Amino acid sequence: MAELSTKQEISWLDDVDSNGVIINPNHELYGKSIAGKELEMPAAAGSTVGADRLVNLAVHGKAPKKIILERSDPITMWGAILGRIDLEIKGKSKKPVDISMLEKLGIDSEIADLLARAGELLGANEFIPADYVQISGVSYKTIMETGLELRRYFASKYRFRAKNVTINPAGMDMEEWQMQHIPEEFAKKQKEIIELYIKMGAQPTITCTPYLISYSQPFTDAFLSESSAVAFENSMLAVRTNREAGLSTLLYAIAGYGPRYGLHLQENRNPRIEIKLDTELKTLSDYGLLGYKMGELSQGKIPYITGMHGMPSVEDVKQLGAAGAASGSVDLFHIEGVTPEARYKMIDLGNIEERIEVGRKDLDEIKEKLNTGNDNEIDLVAFGCPHASINEIKEIAGLLKGKRIKNGKELWISTSRAVKEIAEKVGLASIIEEAGGHIVADTCMVVSPIEEIGFKTTATNSGKAAKYLPRFSKQKVIFDTTEEIIKKITE
Ligand code: F3S
Repeated sequence: MAELSTKQEISWLDDVDSNGVIINPNHELYGKSIAGKELEMPAAAGSTVGADRLVNLAVHGKAPKKIILERSDPITMWGAILGRIDLEIKGKSKKPVDISMLEKLGIDSEIADLLARAGELLGANEFIPADYVQISGVSYKTIMETGLELRRYFASKYRFRAKNVTINPAGMDMEEWQMQHIPEEFAKKQKEIIELYIKMGAQPTITCTPYLISYSQPFTDAFLSESSAVAFENSMLAVRTNREAGLSTLLYAIAGYGPRYGLHLQENRNPRIEIKLDTELKTLSDYGLLGYKMGELSQGKIPYITGMHGMPSVEDVKQLGAAGAASGSVDLFHIEGVTPEARYKMIDLGNIEERIEVGRKDLDEIKEKLNTGNDNEIDLVAFGCPHASINEIKEIAGLLKGKRIKNGKELWISTSRAVKEIAEKVGLASIIEEAGGHIVADTCMVVSPIEEIGFKTTATNSGKAAKYLPRFSKQKVIFDTTEEIIKKITE
């Protein structure tokens, strides 16, 4: 029996502080230190930069001495490999991987050794070309000094062999960071991280919604590590990816190969829990609430959602998946009659073990839980988590037209630079600026150091942002619909 044991997943990003203490009051290990202990847990929830956070704990002597996982989880696994933490996956017998097979693929021996260790833990003997890789762990706020050091090391030795490598949001707008009041020292480190990724061969997409600015090939294998992009591309585009760690995608991009396991295999993509929707979803934030509930219920099982009225939009599904990946570990979900594998009957519904009804009362309870602040204290409104589409920007501009944001409040819409440029060309950016708001590219309210800038209460329409803002960014949160939030802060 391990010294510490939990049935709840742990988010290495915001459930544990830098001293190795569990700071999530809703966690059964709340207040306990995991430093130097043997820890048994199901798997990691939430952010894929968790691997970097675990390495950081290890470097500072605050990590567990051993972790026992109930199921394979690349985030904890890669944190353990690079942080040299003893790791056991229950019920998995280790199958050694032949390193010479990896070296024959032209992979450098140091990287081949790391990939072999991962393959052994995952039970994956086959390595496939990593053509499309998306890397998280880009903001200096999330990866910190240890993460920067690691990237300096890899960039000094390697270039990406993967063909198409995109990167996640940074901690600031790379062009207009002064407008965001970003501290100079932070900006210096952030610029260095982006330069290192570009030097290795990444495209400077700097977004968590690569699927809004480029084309993904359905039914092909990929290696993505932004959790919201994993949920969207797996579910909506039938791309086959596991929820990789930021660090694993970095190494697969260098190798040009990654292990074939988990959701790469069709037999592992069947749903095991049905979520029977008993209410109509009317707003974007309703989809975030459902996603949040889905994450809490799923506990590692792939959800199958039934009872949805009509066809959800890209933006709706984006919200749903992002919140599910943040509150739990939803990497893939199916929606009856909507998502491709459900529509083309590629999944076996005979594996469903549990059927749970979700109604308006459940969504209201989540909303109440996410709201921790007072309307009159809002100092930042943050839309665009995941990064806003041009349709979302159009809706916000329409709601802001002819209005003025009250003094002392700021409004940011986070998006990719590519979408920001379209918003500028079609005149939406100027409507938002006239009202006193800003479109910020390359970053978001979670990975940007808003607590250092002085913001204390943030309003958002995103379930994912509402999950991370309290502990990771020390914010009180107002969670509501886009329309209601704009009413609260304009005159
Ligand atoms: Fe993207 Fe930031 Fe949200 S990276 S998914 S906008 S937390």
